[in-house]
Amino acid sequence: MSSTQVITCTTPDQLADTVASRLIDAIVDAQAARGTASIVLTGGSTGIAVLASVKASPLRDRVDWQRVELWWGDERFVPADDPDRNDRQADEALLGAIPLDPARVHRMPASDGTLGDDPDAAAEWYAGQLTAANDGSDAWFDVLMLGLGEEGHTASIFPESPAAYDERVACAVRDCPKPPPTRISMTFPTLARAREVWMMTAGRAKADAVAQALGGASRSQIPAAGPHGLIRTLWLLDEAAAASVRH
Ligand code: 6PG
Repeated sequence: MSSTQVITCTTPDQLADTVASRLIDAIVDAQAARGTASIVLTGGSTGIAVLASVKASPLRDRVDWQRVELWWGDERFVPADDPDRNDRQADEALLGAIPLDPARVHRMPASDGTLGDDPDAAAEWYAGQLTAANDGSDAWFDVLMLGLGEEGHTASIFPESPAAYDERVACAVRDCPKPPPTRISMTFPTLARAREVWMMTAGRAKADAVAQALGGASRSQIPAAGPHGLIRTLWLLDEAAAASVRH
């Protein structure tokens, strides 16, 4: 398990620009090394701000977007056209402006999709997609980006929730404290399959959860403490979110 490196930026905007620049570099490096890049996106304000920064970056066309695989760490289980959808917010922030190969954009099912309003079936289907696309290799992703909630959740794994103990590849999550209540989430075993894990958040409201996660809390109590990269684990914060971290 890789050790954790903390990078602190002055403001949320600088954080988004810093992560966006790192993401472009990481994709270019992965494509040079392995021909493609596999990236896991996250919802939440920081995750979407990063995508908007990539869109605005003069460096974005260094990437061969046709050879990028996109996955989501979690998704709100609502109709496909619901503005709450992480993938819809990602489309508006970046994906609609870059020449991705649609076959490489792996969206989690919506509640009005062909699988119907069944989050368990949706999670099982996505697990099948992940497993089929990653033929037994240890590292499924090059960069897995995650956000963090005030009480320590990450993806849609909430403290002391069944998802925190689920050993499958993905699972349905119900009665989430953060609306909407029903979601699909990668589980800890899947969040462990990235070369690099980037935990990124901003704002004073996250400072306690950040400090607990970096201070040794258990992943069941503070799920953001759980994910680590096979090679590298980065915590990318603004100064407000880092305020309680002991240096
Ligand atoms: C979601 C996200 C979730 C998010 C955190 C942080 O679907 O809501 O995946 O894990 O990243 O809740 O969100 P904010 O950055 O908006 O606080």
